[in-house]
Amino acid sequence: MFVLLKMLQYHGFQALGFLCISLTSLGLYFLFVYKNTEYPLLTLALWVSTIFLLQRRIARGRTCAEVNTTGRMRGKTVIVTGGNSGLGLETSRSLYRMGAHVIMACRDPRRAQRAADDIRRASVSDGGQLTLLSLDLASRKSIEVFAGDLMKREGFRLDILVNNAGIADAPYGHTEDGWETLFGTNHMGTYYLTHLLLPLLLASKGRVVNVGSAGMILFLPLQNAHTLDLASIAKVESESHYHSRRQYAYSKLCNAIHAQELQKCYGDRGLTAVCVHPGNVISPMSLGFNRRLFAVSDSVNALMAKTILPLVCQTAVEGAQTTLHCCLHDVVGGGYYADCMLMPGHVPHVTFIGSRGERGLTLSELTNSLWKLQ
Ligand SMILES: NC(=O)c1ccc[n+]([C@@H]2O[C@H](COP(=O)([O-])OP(=O)(O)OC[C@H]3O[C@@H](n4cnc5c(N)ncnc54)[C@H](OP(=O)(O)O)[C@@H]3O)[C@@H](O)[C@H]2O)c1
Repeated sequence: MFVLLKMLQYHGFQALGFLCISLTSLGLYFLFVYKNTEYPLLTLALWVSTIFLLQRRIARGRTCAEVNTTGRMRGKTVIVTGGNSGLGLETSRSLYRMGAHVIMACRDPRRAQRAADDIRRASVSDGGQLTLLSLDLASRKSIEVFAGDLMKREGFRLDILVNNAGIADAPYGHTEDGWETLFGTNHMGTYYLTHLLLPLLLASKGRVVNVGSAGMILFLPLQNAHTLDLASIAKVESESHYHSRRQYAYSKLCNAIHAQELQKCYGDRGLTAVCVHPGNVISPMSLGFNRRLFAVSDSVNALMAKTILPLVCQTAVEGAQTTLHCCLHDVVGGGYYADCMLMPGHVPHVTFIGSRGERGLTLSELTNSLWKLQ
């Protein structure tokens, strides 16, 4: 019940609800109107197009107010992890168009190059710059090389770190540092990257925007008073204890709590940290999930992405709006945002326990200790 009430506050789920109402109204139309009207096809066409337009309007969600302001980001440097695909690509594109120096931090140089070429070809920028840097969040070494490179650059200023990269599904396995792949990428890697870049972010009184997900609450009610043992989640020692959706939900919950803790620790030094839920977005990630869930072929999946899904989901451009809102506007530090709005009370309170059963430790204390950081 708690989960349902929370979920209904997201516009993606409202779009799903509206679709049910639309289909019911269409059924009622056939029952009561179609046979009794003089112009059945005309009224049907009007009915369907009205429903379609309303449905699309609800699914699209809000647009970030300043997203097309020329030169709005001139002089700002933003790192977008996973900038080559889906939401990250559209976030990079918009920031570049508004004049930012966008550092696209991607794990595959060829995909990154293709994305950067696409952005440059299709966008006119007011002084924007694109830099491609290699970053694999599933590798401590890669994160250190990435951060080390930026820290060494003389006079380098970092204004915003958009922690966007993530995976939603992975077969049971571990990163080279021993973390379960999904959690290791989404939380452990993101956390470590932010930790290494903190001196730069503090120097500029910068901003951290974590891309989370409303799905973070899905597995909590089953937990004993929302108690999480971080070490077990980070390592998942046996395959029988592995559940990819649960790992994803936990990793996204950690993204949200990470933003809150950053704000608490460094807010008085000028840092602003927030977490966003982008919406239900049509992207390579969600399409991959779709393909497995409905066991459909690539062509059926692609057809769904162009026909049915836009009725209840956002495009990547629409989904990037909340991230952009949090980059461009004044935001409440530690806040959780969806559909370009603050969503108070949406991040559940969680008690973390240490490996020896200690209680009351923060997520940062536990993650630092897993990474063996000071
Ligand atoms: N789509 C949705 O409906 C939805 C809903 C809620 C939250 N989100 C969140 O939104 C974010 C972006 O997702 P998306 O939908 O845009 O998915 P996407 O198109 O699959 O993009 C994910 C990006 O993360 C990168 N990535 C994955 N593993 C990485 C690693 N180890 N190191 C560096 N980069 C890595 C991917 O690189 P490659 O291209 O090389 O794989 C890709 O660029 C994710 O954090 C996701 O959890 C999405």
